[in-house]
Amino acid sequence: MTSPISIRAPLPTAVSISPSTTTIHDRLKSSRKQHDQYLHPPRVLHPIDNEDVRVLVLENISAEAVDTFKAKGFHVDHYKRAMSEDELVEKIGSYHAIGIRSKTKLTARVIKAATKLLVIGCFCIGTNQVDLTSAANAGIPVFNSPFSNSRSVAELVMSEVVALSRQLFERSYELRTGVWNKQSKNCWEVRGKTLGIVGYGHIGAQLSVLAEAFGMRVLFHDVINIMPLGQARQVDSLSTLLAESDFITLHVPELPETINMMSREEFAQMKQGAYFINNARGTVTDIPSLVEALKSGHLAGAAIDVFPAEPASNGAPFDDQLNSWASELRNIPNVILTPHIGGSTEEAQRMIGDEVSQSLTRYLGYGTTLACVNFPEVDLRAITLEQGTHIRMCHVHRNQPGVLKQVNDALSPYNVEKQYSDSKGHIAYVMADIADVSPKDLPRLRERISGTQANILTRFLI
Ligand SMILES: NC(=O)c1ccc[n+]([C@@H]2O[C@H](COP(=O)([O-])OP(=O)(O)OC[C@H]3O[C@@H](n4cnc5c(N)ncnc54)[C@H](O)[C@@H]3O)[C@@H](O)[C@H]2O)c1
Repeated sequence: MTSPISIRAPLPTAVSISPSTTTIHDRLKSSRKQHDQYLHPPRVLHPIDNEDVRVLVLENISAEAVDTFKAKGFHVDHYKRAMSEDELVEKIGSYHAIGIRSKTKLTARVIKAATKLLVIGCFCIGTNQVDLTSAANAGIPVFNSPFSNSRSVAELVMSEVVALSRQLFERSYELRTGVWNKQSKNCWEVRGKTLGIVGYGHIGAQLSVLAEAFGMRVLFHDVINIMPLGQARQVDSLSTLLAESDFITLHVPELPETINMMSREEFAQMKQGAYFINNARGTVTDIPSLVEALKSGHLAGAAIDVFPAEPASNGAPFDDQLNSWASELRNIPNVILTPHIGGSTEEAQRMIGDEVSQSLTRYLGYGTTLACVNFPEVDLRAITLEQGTHIRMCHVHRNQPGVLKQVNDALSPYNVEKQYSDSKGHIAYVMADIADVSPKDLPRLRERISGTQANILTRFLI
């Protein structure tokens, strides 16, 4: 039997890891463009030695993603379902990459059994289903797709703005129950009204453009200064935004400082007859305060897509056992309640499939870790076809003094064309392109690098 070129050291103990920031996504996009636009085409490197790359794809991930893997010549085993921990422990040992969504749990036990695994792709937004620390300790980067559904959320919010101001769901519900109730009182056009966006990130900025196309005036509040799109204007505080807007919509992450950021005091600052929308995270709104503001008639309506506690599966009840105020909220007129569908569209799924499969193939083929959530982010220009004798070293190691000296001692007989190293918590990653290593020297070089004390995983892309 042949063995892969990657050489893993025993798992070390805990590391502390924090998720990557949003700006990396944009860097990744521009970096992709650079790769695509090379005048000198990149050379295809072999991710592992002596065997085909095997990818396990679970949970009915998009066909486009599977096609991307197959186009690279990878062997793909594609399942519609998730796998249990026991099943994964039994099967995962023969795979180099795995693609999952939210139902498959990659626990420390599964990762320990994944002796050949090089990379994990979460074809979704969150990565809670993966033990990120165990993965990093084993030298396995985890990729996801946090922003592929921004447009889907922005479009849903726009539809809610119109639906609330026309009491659309009330009229539709009445007619579905056989009651004809045509009226125009308290129904408004959105043209000329003010939309107040809290959090002007990926979703907030998309929404800003859509709202202006509807003739709305757009104001926003963000903790950082952001260049507004179109005629939108950033205001100095949340209070100013609340006081000036006809619609308030939240697009902030869940952070200690955003939890319950809309509470009794903030609802009281909103205009009489204004509308409130939350498609961000359930915890950023104090719902009992919202219920109060709606019942008193201070607010004219609300649309809520996310809740502090959400049912674990479709068909499960959304009742007072889950959230003590559920039945009260359900019975208030002009309140639109949706089951966390803001980002749930076919387009978003396709974009997620495309983005994550590319992240995985780029890591396997080029060693790039830009935009991964648990790992230092490192990238190098691709080796071109002209650079026929160059090879790339990808060395994941524990972040401790003296490692680069040992690595560079081993590389010193050769010409290191490029080298880049970074660390995150206890994990460090160095990539280096080396010229003119003869095939007979390679095993010795590999042995020296992977034999260094801090080695976690060393790969040579040839
Ligand atoms: N409903 C859904 O299905 C769905 C889908 C995707 C995303 N989301 C949620 O939408 C939210 C926004 O996503 P995004 O992709 O636009 O995020 P993003 O990171 O691109 O933007 C968030 C913005 O909020 C700002 N911000 C942070 N703290 C703030 C504060 N205290 N006050 C004002 N602004 C603050 C940040 O500076 C940033 O500009 C996230 O909570 C995300 O989980 C929901």
